[in-house]
Amino acid sequence: MIHLSQARSSIIFEHDGDSLAVLYWGKKLGTINEKSAEAIKSALVKPAFHGGLDVSSSNLILREHSRGWIGHPALRGHRGGIGSSNSFTVKSAVQKDQSMVAHFVDAIAGIEIEITYTLTPSDVLLMDAKVTNTAEGDYFLEHFLYWLPLAEQADEVLDFYGHWTKERQPQRRSIDYGLITREGFEGRSGHDYTITQVALNHATGFRHGEAWSLAMAWSGNNIHHVERLIDGHKSIGAGEYLLPGEVILKKGESYNAPRAIASFSDRGLDGLTNNHYSWIRARKNHITKVRPRPLTLNMWEAVYFDHVEEDIRKMVDKAVEIGVERVVLDDGWFGARRNDRAGLGDWVVSKDAWPNGLDPIIKYINDKGIEFGLWFEGEMVNRDSDLYRAHPDWILQEPGRLPIEGRWQQVLDLTKEGAYNHVLNQVDAVLSAHNIAYIKWDHNRHLTDPISDGRPVVRKQTEAIYRMFDELKKRHPGLEIESCSSGGGRIDLGMIEHADRFWTSDQNDPLERQQIQRWTGLVIPPEFLGTHIGPTVGHQMNRTHSVSFRALNALFGHAGIEWDITEADAHETEILKAYVAFYKKHRDLLHSGTVVRSDEIVGNAQLYGTVALDKKEAIFTYMQLTSLDNFGPLLTTFDGLEKETLYQVTVIENLSADEFTQKRAPGWWPTLALTGDQLAHIGMQLPVLKPESGLLFHMLAL
Ligand code: DGJ
Repeated sequence: MIHLSQARSSIIFEHDGDSLAVLYWGKKLGTINEKSAEAIKSALVKPAFHGGLDVSSSNLILREHSRGWIGHPALRGHRGGIGSSNSFTVKSAVQKDQSMVAHFVDAIAGIEIEITYTLTPSDVLLMDAKVTNTAEGDYFLEHFLYWLPLAEQADEVLDFYGHWTKERQPQRRSIDYGLITREGFEGRSGHDYTITQVALNHATGFRHGEAWSLAMAWSGNNIHHVERLIDGHKSIGAGEYLLPGEVILKKGESYNAPRAIASFSDRGLDGLTNNHYSWIRARKNHITKVRPRPLTLNMWEAVYFDHVEEDIRKMVDKAVEIGVERVVLDDGWFGARRNDRAGLGDWVVSKDAWPNGLDPIIKYINDKGIEFGLWFEGEMVNRDSDLYRAHPDWILQEPGRLPIEGRWQQVLDLTKEGAYNHVLNQVDAVLSAHNIAYIKWDHNRHLTDPISDGRPVVRKQTEAIYRMFDELKKRHPGLEIESCSSGGGRIDLGMIEHADRFWTSDQNDPLERQQIQRWTGLVIPPEFLGTHIGPTVGHQMNRTHSVSFRALNALFGHAGIEWDITEADAHETEILKAYVAFYKKHRDLLHSGTVVRSDEIVGNAQLYGTVALDKKEAIFTYMQLTSLDNFGPLLTTFDGLEKETLYQVTVIENLSADEFTQKRAPGWWPTLALTGDQLAHIGMQLPVLKPESGLLFHMLAL
């Protein structure tokens, strides 16, 4: 028996003769000796049912039908119609610290599989598998899925759906018999990507209860399953979705499955979130270890394709006054890109848009102590472009049939060396010729016909973009890359290894954004998530929101502004300055703390907090989204602080609501001192907020 365990979770593997099973994955167990191992093993053997096979199946890692498993197998493949049945023998299962490497061989099928499980100190379980064809002839791989067992009390599944401007909407349903599946074959993770799939008990909330999550660390096609079988097995599984013929292994060739990332929490969804954050932040190249996240002004919603240097200079002047640290020129600076119907593919500064080139504006920005960033969409091409005219053969397509267009664009075949090098060299040339600290890399359509020379290539195309990002960073040390895909269409645990920021959504309306940020943040830390103050009247929803409500919404991420700030009046300018100053002062905490969300507040308000790891400081925001159900004020508790410590709780008034529906403020307003215990269990009366306004709290240990 192999037992991997960390602070709060355990996984136990049973190596029994030929086979290897996961006996248990969940709450941390104490030490297991040989005697108790035997007892656990026998406790878990299911009876053999009437009408079934003579031996019951356990939670085998590879789930072969030949061993009695009646659900989905881990491996599916064949050799032109034969050789699809598998029975693997475990050659070795070796534990080293909190990792285990298992090596399986199916001599008849001619397949070997190696899987590594690593339970990190953050209670995040990493799984990496490799499938090798050891026999003569081609092996047509259909899928490799990672599977983990679920406890009986996991009776619901939470996953996420969405579309442009409404990414990551939660759906929660019961785990009934059969398969709950989320599949994505957009050739990117996508707006509808579940980001992670969570099995949990119906009573599990943010702050309490058990939850088991599994996600692919991958930006291409994907599968996430929860399976409940009639023999009583309940499991969660995930893998790469392979298109027919996408992976054909010759003798000696291997398929390295993308990594899968699992986690168990006995402290509700907040526990899952904090496990992921702690693991991501522990990586040695994590973005906040490089530098604090600069306050960013993106000019897309301010100018769109209308690049007028004089206007942009005025915006930069205002940005300096406000304290902006990075200015980003979005789409429209290159080729014939005066609208979205032309120019993609020609990554050369346009003389029409920028008669003097980009150097003068970059110098203007840099001279004021601000960094410059630039937009690219290197995987795409408009048919109206020099690139397409020269290389219509560099499009992903079924031979003889041009794919339907999405935003008037086609997808470049980056698996073709010429196309890859064209993009790499053109982007590299722009970066080499200018002082550019950061690029925003967009991807504005999904892949309908991801075919290169007749074969599906989503996998290779995904690897190519990872390689491109890594190469650009290698050539330009310090360069940061934001992954954008019509907003949040390529945010996933694979891209975190290659990008430094995600554009969370094109939705800047704070009401809609609250929900999108809350759930994207389930596994992606706020320092990755671009959050901008949009225009007073939002461009997507046409709703008008106060600048403070927009600021409160944008504070809890990699903060920025996306608005023609020369329009801001004196009051709005003051709030913008306060927002920027607060962000700069507190970003270390905002980007390192433990997340606290509230189970008590549901529906019409949201509470979000981040507590310093040493619990000496915390920041909370209370957002009143819609009107109160009751007339009176709300009693609100703040969890996650040190019980015995006394905290000075202060409302940051210039970033909070300034209008209330009340005759008198609550007695304590705007500051008082309470202990962590009192804050968590007694709480505070809040003022009666109008809908679409919020409060910002700062807590400091006394
Ligand atoms: C879609 C992105 O999400 C926007 O932020 C912007 O960059 C546009 N593309 C530019 O075309």
